[in-house]
Amino acid sequence: MRTKTFTAALILGALCALFHHTPLHAQHETASDLLDGETAFKASCANCHGPDGDQIQGIDIGRGRLRRPMTDAELVQTILTGIPNTPMPATQMSPAQASQVVAYLRARWASISATTLVGDAARGKTLFDTKGDCASCHRVQGAGSGLGPDLTTIGAARTAAELQRALTDPNAQVQPQDRYYRVTLNDGTQVEGRLLSHDTFSVHLLDSNQRLRAFSKADLREAAFITSPMPSYATTLTAQELTDLVSYLSSLRTR
Ligand code: HEC
Ligand code: HEC
Repeated sequence: MRTKTFTAALILGALCALFHHTPLHAQHETASDLLDGETAFKASCANCHGPDGDQIQGIDIGRGRLRRPMTDAELVQTILTGIPNTPMPATQMSPAQASQVVAYLRARWASISATTLVGDAARGKTLFDTKGDCASCHRVQGAGSGLGPDLTTIGAARTAAELQRALTDPNAQVQPQDRYYRVTLNDGTQVEGRLLSHDTFSVHLLDSNQRLRAFSKADLREAAFITSPMPSYATTLTAQELTDLVSYLSSLRTR
């Protein structure tokens, strides 16, 4: 363990020195660098990240959809030292080989972004708080409303495709604990909320003010599931805005 840490520190030191003198951006990769990078990627990364780089949930290193933007130097460092306390291992590559992998990935991302949309999590966060008005129903890290599910760690629970679908087709797949229910009391009053439980005699809802409401079935004229109160954003947000929001949501992983 000690030797490992020591080696990592040595590599890091060497790296800092390397980048201090030759910033990566200033280097020009040759075609053979890119080919070597591709070979190394296939040999050392594809077994976990997949040949297209999208096999680890929430990370698409084939398209540059990382949890947070990384500079080339940070990418090289990640490859060399791994990410502590996660399955992402340190590799045995030299810093030069790691830079070739990064050059290969960057070239791939550039060629893909010319044809497909790449999300920007920072823009997505702004949309979440402004135009999307998502915080009026959702909470992230304690801020926002509890009407809809808490999204603080939604990126760890859903794939990008699932998130995209939640935004464009909210009723397609609703988690059982998020189903909405409406009761109509005998006096005509209606209450809507997330259904917590119901049995032969009673119904429990969490209403829009996050209050637990209990009803006796004898007092109800009607009770039924209703569609999700979440609007579809399929037409109100552009494709780019949706992609940005999905990037942001994917980045929400830890409390
Ligand atoms: C043994 C499996 C494994 C191998 C091999 C592997 N990775 Fe990873 N990698 C992971 C896992 C798992 C994560 C997510 C770690 C976490 O939970 O933060 C990750 C995370 C990353 C991240 C951070 C992404 C982000 O959005 O934060 C980058 C970049 C990355 N890997 C690149 C590579 C490259 C390049 C290679 C090949 C040199 C490689 N990985 C090899 C499993 C692996
Ligand atoms: C009027 C309230 C409301 C608004 C506004 C709203 N949501 Fe929702 N959202 C909900 C409710 C309720 C659910 C749970 C039912 C469902 O899945 O449709 C939900 C579900 C979700 C889910 C799926 C959660 C899961 O566990 O799979 C995501 C993701 C989501 N919303 C994101 C957003 C984003 C991003 C915005 C803003 C662009 C937004 N919502 C705006 C009420 C809302």
